[in-house]
Order: sequence, then structure tokens, then C-alpha cells
Amino acid sequence: MKMERTLSIIKPNAALDNNIGNIVKRFEGENLRIAAMKLTVLSKEKAEGFYIEHKERPFFGELVSFMTSGPVVLIVLEGENAVEKNREIMGATNPAEAAENTLRKLYAKSIGENAVHGSDSLASADREINYFFDKNEVFSRF
Ligand code: CMP
Repeated sequence: MKMERTLSIIKPNAALDNNIGNIVKRFEGENLRIAAMKLTVLSKEKAEGFYIEHKERPFFGELVSFMTSGPVVLIVLEGENAVEKNREIMGATNPAEAAENTLRKLYAKSIGENAVHGSDSLASADREINYFFDKNEVFSRF
């Protein structure tokens, strides 16, 4: 059994559309446990640092502006195969390409306002969790 942790972010469009509960319920229903969670509003500096690998992309300014435009929910998910499982639950980055019943198919508006973020690998998950949470804020069962 490969127990992992991954980071999910419920983005401002999903939070403002009252879909926080629906998304959290989906994670728990798929056996991903909430190991840490906080609702916050990201500063420009915090959002830029989080997405630093996209700094040279043409959409970087738009991405940071959107991610600081409203509340986000930062979540550490824990469970078997959590990184890949979360990516399957989210669906493709572009909601136009997302499979039926994925979070992005259900709740995204566009590739920018795409409802949720999820770590793309174990290494990213580790970096992203540490970027937002102190060790003592995460309750791990393994
Ligand atoms: P996320 O998983 O949070 O990681 C990077 C984000 O950049 C991605 O989701 C999208 O929301 C955003 N993104 C990727 N490609 C584009 C694009 N072509 N235009 C606008 N935003 C994009």
C-alpha cells in the first residue's frame, strides 16, 4: 500500500460558487483524508512563489491575478496513491478536455478558472505542502 500526501487548492471561482463542501465531500468519498485544511486569501507574493515554475508563461500575470482575487482553500490530502488519485478526480487542466464527473468538468469555467489545483508528482506535493503548511499543522496517520 503506497500511502502519500498531496496538495489540493480549491480556487476562487469554486469557493465563490459555494462548491467547497461538494469538493471536500468528493475527496472524502474517494478515501482521501483531509490531513490539513485552511481557507485564506493569497497575497501576490505568495501566489507568485507558488507558481514560480510558470513565471515565463504568457498567462502568468492572469494566473496570479485570478488566484489572489478571492478565497482559496489549501488542503493536504492523504491516502493510498493520493497524487495520482487526486489528479484523476480533478480531470484535465482544460475543462473542455476533462472527463465526465471530474471536478473540473463539474466546477471549472475555463483553463484559468479551473476550480482546483493538484500536485503533479510526489516531489511537487512535498514542496507545495511545505510551502503552505508548517509540519505541526498536518495530521498524518502514517
Ligand atoms: P494549475 O493546476 O493550478 O497549474 C497551473 C495553472 O495555470 C493551471 O492550473 C491553469 O489554471 C493555468 N493555466 C494553464 N494554462 C493556461 C492558459 N493557457 N491560460 C490561462 N491559464 C492557464
